Amino acid sequence: MREISRASAPAKVILFGEHFVVYDRLAIVMAIDLRACVTVKPRGDKKIIIRSNTMGLSGEFSFNGDYKPILGGFECIRLKPIYIAAKNVLNLAGEVVGLDINIESEIPVASGLGSSAAVSVATTAAVGNLLEMSLSKDDIFKLALEAERVVHENPSGVDPAVSTYGGVLAYRRSGGIMRLKVNADLPLVLGDTRVIRDTRKMVLHVSEIKRLYPEVVDGIMGVGELVANLAIKALEDGDLITLGHLMNINHALLYAIGVSNLAVERLVWAARQAGALGAKITGAGGGGCIIALSLRENLYHVAESIRVADGNPLIVNMASMGVKIEG
Ligand code: PMV
Repeated sequence: MREISRASAPAKVILFGEHFVVYDRLAIVMAIDLRACVTVKPRGDKKIIIRSNTMGLSGEFSFNGDYKPILGGFECIRLKPIYIAAKNVLNLAGEVVGLDINIESEIPVASGLGSSAAVSVATTAAVGNLLEMSLSKDDIFKLALEAERVVHENPSGVDPAVSTYGGVLAYRRSGGIMRLKVNADLPLVLGDTRVIRDTRKMVLHVSEIKRLYPEVVDGIMGVGELVANLAIKALEDGDLITLGHLMNINHALLYAIGVSNLAVERLVWAARQAGALGAKITGAGGGGCIIALSLRENLYHVAESIRVADGNPLIVNMASMGVKIEG
């Protein structure tokens, strides 16, 4: 066993198909250049102690999962997937050892950028490397997805997939992850509404709307699938104008199933009025972030317009590197 191990994994934005992906429709997702980094060290006892500066939380799990907070209250649900990710790898290796797990992350939490998945992926890789196992990316993805199931209602798996593999992926939950060749610089402005939302609640909301209006919602999701397929071609052709149109259409579909709100609409319209080629929710909606596609020369103008509309803008780029062992 090594004395220390460190791994990092990227955040993501969903370009097309959030929510629909839960129902086995196609999604397109891109890793971005914000990373979570996890450092692990073995302990002499059997405790798993997790510290996260970003979340302002620390806590101690016994080997069988009992939780004691150290800092930041009794709420353990945010740390639990990290514990499960580490425990799954220990179980796989047949090791009974305590761990100190330290998380440093640049990814805003609960904003739809996949911060929890990035931490689960980086934890899985770091613990695997500590135990000198040679986990493949497919192994890391599957183990991290198990951990994500603890906090999300019926997760599609799109977040741990892109955090593991990086780049731009076409993803369908029932089968297959395809890495796309993107023939363009994809200049995106993220706009954080600063409204914290709960992915689980938003997914439940969509399932309720789908239960009430099954034919309508199936129709909307079918159109979402057409949009995602056209987007694959536009990405391969580097056709930003078409991509922008398709993002606006995708946003309208998400609006139709009730996952937008005033905070989101303000930022989407601020970006469009500043000349964005397209703007939409990214992730679960109900707050969180929007993304706006813009020509590179107009990025700062779009970002400023988002700021004036009370959003927190951030210019992001594609990260081709997925999970990475840092040492
Ligand atoms: O809120 P986020 O970015 O973690 O994304 C959730 C994406 C959904 O499609 C709404 C749910 C899922 O599991 O794919």
